[in-house]
Amino acid sequence: MTGKILVTGATGNTCSGLIPALRGAGVDVRALVREEANAQSLREIGVEVVIGDLDQPETIAPAVEDVDKIYLLTWNGPTQAKQAKDVIAAAKNAGNPHIVRHSMWGSEKSRIVQQGDEVEETLKSSGLPWTILRPTFYMQNTMMAAQTIASDGMLYWDTGDGKLGMIDVRDIQDSAFAVLTGSGHEGRSYILTGPEAISMHDVADTFSKVLGKDVTYVNVPHEASLESMVNMGFPEWIARGYGELMEGFSEGFANSTTDNVEKLTGHPPRSFEQFARDFAQVYGG
Ligand SMILES: NC(=O)c1ccc[n+]([C@@H]2O[C@H](COP(=O)([O-])OP(=O)(O)OC[C@H]3O[C@@H](n4cnc5c(N)ncnc54)[C@H](OP(=O)(O)O)[C@@H]3O)[C@@H](O)[C@H]2O)c1
Repeated sequence: MTGKILVTGATGNTCSGLIPALRGAGVDVRALVREEANAQSLREIGVEVVIGDLDQPETIAPAVEDVDKIYLLTWNGPTQAKQAKDVIAAAKNAGNPHIVRHSMWGSEKSRIVQQGDEVEETLKSSGLPWTILRPTFYMQNTMMAAQTIASDGMLYWDTGDGKLGMIDVRDIQDSAFAVLTGSGHEGRSYILTGPEAISMHDVADTFSKVLGKDVTYVNVPHEASLESMVNMGFPEWIARGYGELMEGFSEGFANSTTDNVEKLTGHPPRSFEQFARDFAQVYGG
């Protein structure tokens, strides 16, 4: 029985696709959103909306009341661990929901991953039923470089020659859907990757092929990347966390793949070429 599912992070990369898929399958969904402005489109597809802010713990209790499962996704910022731990505590107070944690697979050098690991440990020792999804670097992250790829055919990134088993967010959504609506996933942790480990040189080559023009990868020093992220408006804590993640990737942290997406969903994960074809217009194609 799937029951009622609370989804956090409803407006973000993953859950903006996961929620319509759940509703399409007739699943009862409650979403926690911060802004009333984001509620209407969810209500239109039959989602029950609770307005709340995970940085305000008093708003969490009404969201976790009477749910059977929680898709627990939090932001990348410095309060990530506290937010998730507060949800776990409130959930325990409210009953015995199965928590499916949207975690991450990256180097422990990164403050973001350190917080993610802390949440995983808290969840595992909470006494609640749990499943952990550990996706690695999203293919969709390359959209941050879309402007220079479109204008000059340049891909600036800071993963050196490191290869990553990067994953299309649509495969994370499909995996989350399978775990939330299926059975036998309690007490299991799944590292989620794409079909192959590729470097940013490979990414640039694929864009060249798909867009029909030369795209060149230039490795940027981490400090320069940090400065440009801060200039783009990223809080420094998060920009440093990303930098630490990219350092791990350049050292080969995610130079491997798993078959978990296929095992969970019944279909192979999408390749980078498939991703690039489907989103070519974002990159000026
Ligand atoms: N990017 C990657 O390569 C990658 C890879 C693996 C794992 N991850 C992990 O995935 C998670 C992010 O997932 P995502 O990319 O699907 O989400 P996302 O696009 O980063 O969106 C974050 C979501 O969290 C919500 N949110 C932020 N602060 C909140 C608060 N104080 N209270 C309630 N909601 C809040 C946002 O809502 P608003 O619309 O109100 O801002 C939004 O819905 C992070 O934990 C990250 O570490 C990322």
